[in-house]
Amino acid sequence: MKVFFETRSVEETWNVAREFAKDLKAGDVVCLEGDLGAGKTTFTQGLAAALGVKGRVTSPTFCIVQEHRGERFMVHMDLYRLKDEADVEAIGWNDYLARGAILVVEWPDRAGSLLPAAARRVRINSKGEEFRTIAIDSRADNLI
Ligand SMILES: Nc1ncnc2c1ncn2[C@@H]1O[C@H](COP(=O)(O)OP(=O)(O)OP(=O)(O)O)[C@@H](O)[C@H]1O
Ligand SMILES: [Mg+2]
Repeated sequence: MKVFFETRSVEETWNVAREFAKDLKAGDVVCLEGDLGAGKTTFTQGLAAALGVKGRVTSPTFCIVQEHRGERFMVHMDLYRLKDEADVEAIGWNDYLARGAILVVEWPDRAGSLLPAAARRVRINSKGEEFRTIAIDSRADNLI
């Protein structure tokens, strides 16, 4: 089952992310799908706030992985510039999961078969200047 949200500001997207973050646990992978500028990094900012981690969540041009520690351990990856799963493996994908990170991933298609079946999928579509739709697969979908 999917749940759908509509947001009309950055703050509303943060609120959806905060709610979604409540049932995240160590070792979860969150796939953020959507075009350039859809709001994947913005959504991640909401996750970071809810997970009580430190450090600004940014959209780094030269940085593919950012580690955020605090109450929880969140790792934010932007795989846009990577080619395939060999590249993704090389930046420590498995190590992060083994260390109990919550892995939040933009452009997750690059990770190919590294993506666990139970990954949580969040799809953000831009419908206008500040209008976004956010579709989230419920956890149960991934267990079937
Ligand atoms: N309702 C909204 N939700 C999220 N972002 C919004 C919303 N309305 C406007 N925006 C703007 O849209 C932009 C989203 O940028 P963001 O960096 O989050 O996108 P992204 O999906 O991470 O892009 P990229 O693929 O380039 O990393 C921001 O400038 C943000 O201020
Ligand atoms: Mg981004």
